[in-house]
Amino acid sequence: MAAVDKLFLGSIPEIYDRLMVPLIFEPYARDLAERIARTRPEDLLETAAGTGVLTRAIASHLPGRSRMIATDLNQPMLDRAAAAKALEGRVTWRQADALALPFEDQKFDVVACQFGVMFFPDKIKGYREARRVLKPRGRFFFNVWAEIDKNEFADTVTQALAAIFPHDPPLFMARTPHGYHDVAKIREELIAAGFAGISVETIDHTSRTSTPRDAAVAYCQGTPLRSEIEARDAARLEDATKAAANALANRFGNGPIEGRIRAHVFAATS
Ligand SMILES: C[S@@+](CC[C@H](N)C(=O)[O-])C[C@H]1O[C@@H](n2cnc3c(N)ncnc32)[C@H](O)[C@@H]1O
Repeated sequence: MAAVDKLFLGSIPEIYDRLMVPLIFEPYARDLAERIARTRPEDLLETAAGTGVLTRAIASHLPGRSRMIATDLNQPMLDRAAAAKALEGRVTWRQADALALPFEDQKFDVVACQFGVMFFPDKIKGYREARRVLKPRGRFFFNVWAEIDKNEFADTVTQALAAIFPHDPPLFMARTPHGYHDVAKIREELIAAGFAGISVETIDHTSRTSTPRDAAVAYCQGTPLRSEIEARDAARLEDATKAAANALANRFGNGPIEGRIRAHVFAATS
């Protein structure tokens, strides 16, 4: 993982929340929240919470007495989440690295992490930290994206950008969000961190957007892919976004478009 991959800063949080979240994150947040609600947690920690799509989904499923702390490495993502005010009084937002959590041992019934573990520089260390803060027989719920070719918009955008920067293609999407999908390896790493009772399910959804342009802006400007493009030539961010929009239009059509998305959903017991 490149150092820039974990930085969701500047104009990224606003575009991520407005375009990227409805495009690919909302259906998986509903799925994870339903799984979590079935365990009836009273104390819940979310790591890599971003702009709070899973936090909101969990809150809508849990009784008011449940206590939720939502954390993320990047304070600007949490600022965007807190600004929505939807969860005021129901959740504590707190900046924290998932690999060094500022909480005592055995505090939570559930730790949840939506599409965050791929960003952990040391996966086993991140899993150990989740386990440390879980009560005995607490549950860790998380999801990861499948291979990039099973996620059609991400794949199309990545190929379009490789054509623009052929000598140094921006591979953020393939390298990090879609770079940690080997189910057997993830299971082994959870066991190495001390987890048991591991289950995994592969879930397909359809990604929908009203125009190819919206999806292109989401990927090229609302994720760390933006920093990768700007590092090659800041003046070409708009060119790159247009190339991605054209590639999406060529493959999926103009106007409202749909693409397949796939993720693996894990649950493990401490
Ligand atoms: C793809 S976003 C997912 C955000 C949110 N869970 C969602 O579903 O929209 C990945 C998130 O991981 C966060 N992140 C990256 N490295 C992290 C770390 N070491 N600890 C905690 N959060 C981290 C980023 O700031 C970003 O918000």
